Amino acid sequence: MVPDVVGMGMKPEELIQGFSRWVRDRSDIEGFRRPGSFDIACSVLTFMHVAEKKAALQNIVDSLRTGGYVVLSIDHGSDSLDFGDWSVDLYSWPPERYDDVLAGMGCEVSESIHLIDSWVGPDGQRSETHEEPIATVIKAIKPR
Ligand SMILES: C[S@@+](CC[C@H](N)C(=O)[O-])C[C@H]1O[C@@H](n2cnc3c(N)ncnc32)[C@H](O)[C@@H]1O
Repeated sequence: MVPDVVGMGMKPEELIQGFSRWVRDRSDIEGFRRPGSFDIACSVLTFMHVAEKKAALQNIVDSLRTGGYVVLSIDHGSDSLDFGDWSVDLYSWPPERYDDVLAGMGCEVSESIHLIDSWVGPDGQRSETHEEPIATVIKAIKPR
């Protein structure tokens, strides 16, 4: 069976390469619902922007077929992104809260994968978060 995949946001290609049937959708996830349409829904570093997370997660779960997967990478958060003259408010949740909400929607939630900052620059530079977790991948299945 060839799975139907939906990637939300701007750059899902890296995550879904290898799947032959996928769509990119730039809708607002808070209003996105395509009941029973996808086998996999993935979102990369986007949920920190989403204020109505429960509604968004419910939309994703509703849009999956039974046995479908939701895969989210989430940022370890600050309250805002600062670009100098302007900033963007963020709405961060700890990873466990995603797990709890998805489990409350009937999903089987896998153990989270914590991504560690291992960046080392050409001159040996390290960021302030070196060797700390900076993001988490959350995976859940909508049961059959
Ligand atoms: C940090 S960027 C990540 C983009 C891309 N996934 C990547 O990894 O390069 C955050 C993305 O979240 C998207 N976004 C913000 N709020 C959203 C919402 N309510 N529904 C869907 N996408 C949203 C923005 O359009 C932006 O593309």
